[in-house]
Amino acid sequence: MVKVDLKGCCGFVDGAKYDEYVGKALDAFDVLVAGNGAGNDFLGWKHLPSETPESLIADCEAVRDLWKGKGVDLVIAIGIGGSYLGAKCAVEALSHNFAKQLSRKDAPEVVFAGNNLSEEYLAELMDLAAERNVACIVISKSGTTTEPAVAFRIVKQYIEETYGKAEAAERIVAITDEHKGALKTLSTQEGYKTFIVPDNVGGRFSVLTPVGILPIVVGGFDIRAILAGALEAEKALAVKSEENPAVVYAAMRNLLYQEYGKKVEILVNYNPKFTYLAEWWKQLYGESEGKDGVGIFPASVNNTADLHSMGQFIQEGDRVMFETVVHVEKATRSVVIGSDEQNLDCLNYLAGKHVEHCNHMAELGTVIAHQDGGVPQLQVSVEKVDAFNLGSLFYFFEFACGVSAYTLGVNPFNQPGVEAYKKNMFALLEKPGYEEATQAIKARL
Ligand code: PA5
Repeated sequence: MVKVDLKGCCGFVDGAKYDEYVGKALDAFDVLVAGNGAGNDFLGWKHLPSETPESLIADCEAVRDLWKGKGVDLVIAIGIGGSYLGAKCAVEALSHNFAKQLSRKDAPEVVFAGNNLSEEYLAELMDLAAERNVACIVISKSGTTTEPAVAFRIVKQYIEETYGKAEAAERIVAITDEHKGALKTLSTQEGYKTFIVPDNVGGRFSVLTPVGILPIVVGGFDIRAILAGALEAEKALAVKSEENPAVVYAAMRNLLYQEYGKKVEILVNYNPKFTYLAEWWKQLYGESEGKDGVGIFPASVNNTADLHSMGQFIQEGDRVMFETVVHVEKATRSVVIGSDEQNLDCLNYLAGKHVEHCNHMAELGTVIAHQDGGVPQLQVSVEKVDAFNLGSLFYFFEFACGVSAYTLGVNPFNQPGVEAYKKNMFALLEKPGYEEATQAIKARL
């Protein structure tokens, strides 16, 4: 189970104040568990680990097997925000670091599109598609988001031209709202297999719905282990206690923000496989808490690489931040540093040591250095990087996000601010219905 350690905050906060914030976090916990807070029609994610039916996984496996039978070796997963970050995080965390170069053939490669509007990106995606056997998962809860819609139009046309219209209907699967949205209408019309995003689960909390499950399954990853890890967290975090890791995390980050002016939280990892865990986490916390003029700005670093870029600022720059270090207790592979007779690189003092030992010492040294530099440290730890622990992390961060946002006093489940850019973009693109906005924005250019 995920553990939270606050030792690295001790010198920075007052104990009585911490107790006060634990009290606030416990109140927020009650609201989240009772389901009587703001946005309470979006709490469906709370019981996904315990309530996901085996039939859903079997349905996803049927898609995987159908595509395997067709020799599909490239699955293009189209989506943005919560409709891609969870699956991307799982694919990155659970893949061999050099899967592409090793060209492993046990499952199709899952690539992502619809999360940007770069013309180069889509052109180069089509270069890749031309050399591969392609299927597509298009994901949009609203079914109306522009970025995935643009990517899907291009990929759909490619698949239809390459394999024919009837075959395209077997190579495209949609994940969207049960009743509404352009993607729903289109999928029904084209006869696509469709999975539903439950009404009561918001995008950034949807990794354990078909939004995450289908790409994870077709990519050959162990969804049952992810759900088992999430279930362990669901059970552990349901217990009301001052030691509940979600309460501890929510209390400390709110205390640091509200009483000590720490406005930036940096999620720190020491394993490249967790780079996208941070991207997923940033969306989860950024969209859930950053509103009504408040919120901790979620940032991230990938160490040790970023110690050679961001390390200077974290050590000595403006003291606005605290760090949450994702600590991994043990590596799943073993590489021992050898001895060298000449020792020209002067590294014999490390001979016989595991690389992960050096990684842990770098982490520990950094934690102490950053504390000395005035940066409070929280630690979130898991045993290793695998499907089970990733599932626990997904659920832990989701549940803690709900507790934390209610502690802060905001609705964790809306994102009204995301609409502002869309309105301007539609006006600039001269979308029908935006004529007045088009005129107004053009006058400002
Ligand atoms: O968390 C959210 O709700 C958003 O980030 C959405 O996931 C994102 O905007 C994509 O929306 P949709 O799935 O409707 O295309």
